[in-house]
Amino acid sequence: MRYSKIAIIMAMKQEALPIIDHFGLKKDSTFYPIEVYANSDKSIILSLNGHSKRYNIDNIGTQAAAINAFSVLNNYDVDLVINCGTGGGFFEQGTKIGDVFIAKGEINFHNRLISISNNYQNYGLGKSPCLDLSQIAEVLDLKQGIISSGDSFDLNDSELELMKANQTNIKEMEAASVAWVCSLFDMDFTAVKVITDFVDKPADTSEDFISNFNLAVEKLKNAIVRIVKYLQN
Ligand code: ADE
Repeated sequence: MRYSKIAIIMAMKQEALPIIDHFGLKKDSTFYPIEVYANSDKSIILSLNGHSKRYNIDNIGTQAAAINAFSVLNNYDVDLVINCGTGGGFFEQGTKIGDVFIAKGEINFHNRLISISNNYQNYGLGKSPCLDLSQIAEVLDLKQGIISSGDSFDLNDSELELMKANQTNIKEMEAASVAWVCSLFDMDFTAVKVITDFVDKPADTSEDFISNFNLAVEKLKNAIVRIVKYLQN
């Protein structure tokens, strides 16, 4: 399938800068706190969660991701949304720092436990669909993985248990939210995540995230450039 107007939704500006630079994107609009960059014919939109003035960091997590996706889908004419960013992988699965994954299967939340009924339970999990991009993954030699989102960078035992039960390969903080908003709009969705740290080595997670960040975002940029080229040609 060919896509002509792709929206890339990201959390942190530092993750996005190599992609913004590569495509020569310019600031197009602000829907505070969301900041949108675009190329001249708007065939590539990149929308950021924006900055928290109060804490002097970029907005991260599922709330910011949801308003970002909602703002893009209400204000831009796009035919595909890609959520991209960093994520934690599982050392015991053989994942390596810098591995780039394309989403497969359903995108879940791992911290929304609502045991009132089956429907509430499934709603809590999210189970939002993403495109089957196994062909692209094969052609571009990228891994495919199941993504799970939550609002904690840190990890507790129940989250780990739920992620394992759902065969999770990548833990991050936005994809399930963006996927949910896309499902409301019947918008095609995928996610691309690069691994900065290991979920199953909790003592090292924050340090690994910081020290591997630059290498990871470079790899993410290289993958996104190839994916967008493939999808738009
Ligand atoms: N982004 C990068 N690493 C992460 C982790 N371990 N958990 C959540 N989000 C992340």
